[in-house]
Amino acid sequence: MSHLEIRGGVPLSGRLRVQGAKNSVLPILAAALLAPGQSILHNCPRLSDVEATGKILRLLGCGVEREEKTLLVDASQPTGWTIPDPLMREMRSSVIFLGAMLARLGRAELSYPGGCELGPRPIDLHLAALRSLGAEIVEEQGRLRCTVGSGLVGRELCLSIPSVGATENAMLAACGARGTTTIVGAAREPEIVDLQNFLNAMGARVSGAGSPVVAVEGGAPLHPAEHTVMGDRIAAATYLCAAGTAGGRLELEGAEASSLAAVTACLQEAGCEIKILGDRIALNSRGRLRGIRPVRTAPYPGFPTDAQAVLMAALAGGTGTTMFVENMFDSRYRHVDELSRMGADIQLAGRVAVVTGRPLHAAKVHSTDLRGGAALVVAALGAEGVSQVSGLEHIRRGYEDLEGQLTALGAQVRLIH
Ligand code: UD1
Repeated sequence: MSHLEIRGGVPLSGRLRVQGAKNSVLPILAAALLAPGQSILHNCPRLSDVEATGKILRLLGCGVEREEKTLLVDASQPTGWTIPDPLMREMRSSVIFLGAMLARLGRAELSYPGGCELGPRPIDLHLAALRSLGAEIVEEQGRLRCTVGSGLVGRELCLSIPSVGATENAMLAACGARGTTTIVGAAREPEIVDLQNFLNAMGARVSGAGSPVVAVEGGAPLHPAEHTVMGDRIAAATYLCAAGTAGGRLELEGAEASSLAAVTACLQEAGCEIKILGDRIALNSRGRLRGIRPVRTAPYPGFPTDAQAVLMAALAGGTGTTMFVENMFDSRYRHVDELSRMGADIQLAGRVAVVTGRPLHAAKVHSTDLRGGAALVVAALGAEGVSQVSGLEHIRRGYEDLEGQLTALGAQVRLIH
């Protein structure tokens, strides 16, 4: 089993181009299934979740080739409509194929998706939205058998929670429906806008992404398209938190500053100097961040749940007290026990975590989920001594060459096999 060996307290310095967004590339790869022919997708990070999505596309009969950061997806003649259990379990976003398969193939068979490490993650909103569009979905022994009968028909859908995945699934299915679908209560995340841009480049007629109402005029003939995936705002947040706690000067390229406003506001309050220079975000920190006002996770444009763990790790090694309230997922504090091994003082009560900053020391820690794993790396960069972070398979789901990127910024990080 491999792990990272990280010497903390070494300031970071330099410029980094942020990877393409994991949460954008996955639905966009599923969307490539909609059009016959070869779509060209630039800025696709090398992540295990992207590899798993490629495997699903191949199983469905699509060609998938990688040329550096570009993926060529040939959906000329899909032959399959079944996704086996192990691939469904590998990642939650496999469920996004449901909408795409119904739109393109008129049928789909898959099981409930994985990704349970954050507590229960139901897909009831996905299924209700697809059923409203006319999909017949039968659940048998954990498998979902889905067909569209005489075809999907557009209509108004109301999401009771602005679910990112359910919004994406409904958008994809709606492209293959007759008439107009209006998604009311849609998620507003920037990744939804990226998906809309790709769908429209394919000839779809989607509008409203980024607002709570997304409209899709279905039935337009789709063709393959070329698209560049947006920068990853959560990877960007992770590097900013890392430089915040380790100290130093970091300049990030390729991430939209406005999509990070909730995170940069917290880092500024904690004592970092942050400047937006055109398409770059510059952070200057002397390390030892201060406690800040309560951080409450919320749907975009609120504070992202995916950045909760990395900010907590950065503040745990600082001074003063900060309260976190996790409103999105039930079980998203699994990094807390591991941070405590590094000396962090974090009191947990249900959805609330109270962090009292104090100097952290090195420890052997283990990641149990993607962002929790990244949080351990952030904490180790700010801690005294040499830490070991294992459970790298979780981190590889969402960070491309994390150790290489940090090393390029001057961090002392080694991959030990
Ligand atoms: C996406 C992101 C994930 C991020 C999350 C919230 C991807 C691949 N993943 O996940 O990184 O943490 O958004 O920003 O884009 N819910 C239901 N029923 C449903 C669907 C969701 O109750 O059918 C609930 C969830 O349990 C959760 C909330 O809605 O409490 C938001 O979840 P959702 O936005 O759907 O998250 P994902 O799309 O799974």
